[in-house]
Amino acid sequence: MSPEQFNTLIRSRRSVFPDQLDAGKIVDDAIIKEILINATWAPNHGKQEPWHFTVFSGEGLQKLATFQSELYKQEAGENFKEITFAKLQQNPLKASHVIAIGMKRTSNKNIPEIEDIEAVSCAVQNIYLSVTAYGLGGYWTTGGVTYKESAKSFFGLEEVDKLLGFFYIGQVALPSTGGTRKSIEEKTIWINE
Ligand SMILES: Cc1cc2nc3c(=O)[nH]c(=O)nc-3n(C[C@H](O)[C@H](O)[C@H](O)COP(=O)(O)O)c2cc1C
Repeated sequence: MSPEQFNTLIRSRRSVFPDQLDAGKIVDDAIIKEILINATWAPNHGKQEPWHFTVFSGEGLQKLATFQSELYKQEAGENFKEITFAKLQQNPLKASHVIAIGMKRTSNKNIPEIEDIEAVSCAVQNIYLSVTAYGLGGYWTTGGVTYKESAKSFFGLEEVDKLLGFFYIGQVALPSTGGTRKSIEEKTIWINE
């Protein structure tokens, strides 16, 4: 791959949201496995490989939908919104696969927690780019039950670990268009003398 092709891949990556996915089309598990292998090639401090993935597909999507909507209902209290509940029930079923993104805190306490989170974030970017390269769509969501302590065990996570959200993957029915970024001049200071 030339640098120009790589630039194009990175800059054409767009989040594709659940309503833009083709709910009826399944992505081959073999492709999802390749995408996950790419995820694990992310940099990680101290070679701790702190990622932990739970992949939902087929009937598993309904299990995720039921789990997250019911937990939301139980814990939302007076903040309960019917629309949020409905989205948590329905959105997973619009994807082919949903990957719960976990950070498993490593035993090496010399590595600050934030660095394990950063490593998992790098892994998620690998997922984003791989999904783009395979011509699929998807996005990272931190909505719903992401930051609920009570959600962790369902995803194989313990108290010291963190749930960092969900990556939806599917075939694209309605591609995302556009995408804008500020110029690097606004975000960069060069010190060269
Ligand atoms: C940590 C993180 C959390 C995100 N959570 C959500 C979310 O909960 N809901 C959502 O619609 N998009 C979420 N996104 C996706 C962003 O909306 C998306 O990246 C942004 O709109 C820029 O669009 P692009 O990905 O096409 O460049 C999240 C992205 C990141 C990096």
